[in-house]
Amino acid sequence: MNINKEQYLTDFFGRENWSTGLGSREEHDVIASEISDDDVVLDVGCGHNLFKGKIKNLTAIDKYNTAADILIDTMDFDAPEESYDVVVALGSTNFHPFETIEAQIDRVVKWCKPGGRIYMRVNPCINPNNTPEVAYPWTLVDIFNFTKKYNLEIIKPITVTKHVRIIWTWKKPL
Ligand SMILES: C[S@@+](CC[C@H](N)C(=O)[O-])C[C@H]1O[C@@H](n2cnc3c(N)ncnc32)[C@H](O)[C@@H]1O
Repeated sequence: MNINKEQYLTDFFGRENWSTGLGSREEHDVIASEISDDDVVLDVGCGHNLFKGKIKNLTAIDKYNTAADILIDTMDFDAPEESYDVVVALGSTNFHPFETIEAQIDRVVKWCKPGGRIYMRVNPCINPNNTPEVAYPWTLVDIFNFTKKYNLEIIKPITVTKHVRIIWTWKKPL
């Protein structure tokens, strides 16, 4: 891949009119409706921070979008393990190399409390619309491998959105 990944992602996700993930507002509304005021929530790679005002106890981080509460790389965010009831990662653990995705998922799972939920959305890169060139094409096998690795439970059906993104929800064991 003859491309400067950091510059590419800065340009792609840093621009103000970036489209917020094509229809993801509906997904945000569904997720927000499942979160209670008592839940302490982390949004990893929040983009335009669409949960702000919809979720009470929210921290939203992003490396490239200044709408975030904290502008930081997922790998540099320093939060204690098991400190969030809900971790959301919609489209943010999706960029080469796969080893980085593995490290990001490891952090996402560790930040979540036992018994907590993890809301995921990934891009299988089937639909070229709004797919960054540096995106890794997630597969169902990847989802099952992570599910097994961390002994997670998939508590909502794995669904393909109308814009061909894969969404699902994990529950972390107690
Ligand atoms: C497809 S967008 C989704 C944004 C938002 N979650 C949504 O659904 O509207 C992916 C987001 O992840 C962010 N991102 C990508 N790599 C990241 C990293 N290493 N650390 C933090 N944020 C990252 C991007 O800046 C972008 O805002």
